[in-house]
Amino acid sequence: MATPHIEAETGDIAPLVLMSGDPLRAKYIAETYLEKPKVFNEVRNMLGYTGIWKGERVSVMGSGMGIPSISIYVEELCRFYGVQRIMRVGTCGAIQEHLALKDLVIAVSACTDSAVNSARFFGASYAPTADFPMAVRAAELAKQRGMNFHAGTVVSTDIFYAHEGDLSWKVWADYGALCLEMETAGLYTIAAKHKVRALTVLTVSDSLVSKQAASSKERERSYTGMMETALDTIIKKC
Ligand code: HPA
Repeated sequence: MATPHIEAETGDIAPLVLMSGDPLRAKYIAETYLEKPKVFNEVRNMLGYTGIWKGERVSVMGSGMGIPSISIYVEELCRFYGVQRIMRVGTCGAIQEHLALKDLVIAVSACTDSAVNSARFFGASYAPTADFPMAVRAAELAKQRGMNFHAGTVVSTDIFYAHEGDLSWKVWADYGALCLEMETAGLYTIAAKHKVRALTVLTVSDSLVSKQAASSKERERSYTGMMETALDTIIKKC
């Protein structure tokens, strides 16, 4: 069985799926954290692997960048492969002063400037929301690990390179949003449609407030904490 974008056979993909924007990051996660990783997708180089974490079958796959890309993969994972839980692991740009580089963000909900959901919901606005037990579990695990974490709303933007001088992110910040990223509103919406539980956890890679950016070494180290938290969250029955 194959879908337009995934060539896996039924059963090749675990019911628990981690997604990173970068497919090479998915390969790295599979090869670093999972026992016996086996590739299940190479279509468009959107690599996907299934392996074992603490005795549980877990898959990890790239999502690509932006809501349209992740929405296609999440729809196919939910509709054709019987996936039960999906977690996005990624990076974000802080828009609040109290978020430091390398902090963890647990995305409780996702605002968006994308037209996708206003088209889907006849001009009305939908509130893409995380699975609550998974969000609580991720917070508990982050606390146990002594990580600096924040739980709240994020902004899934369609625009990475804003027009020069565009400070519209400050409006989101005034209403309490924590950071910018590009996929979570799509993940939460499509997962909800299929009654699939979903959560995004993010590492702060840069700050629009302080204009700092984490070095690749710093990002690597904070990524390890996020990855282990994500894997422990997704295998926990809750
Ligand atoms: N904007 C959107 N996505 C991001 C950013 C950003 O500033 N930083 C990391 N992911």
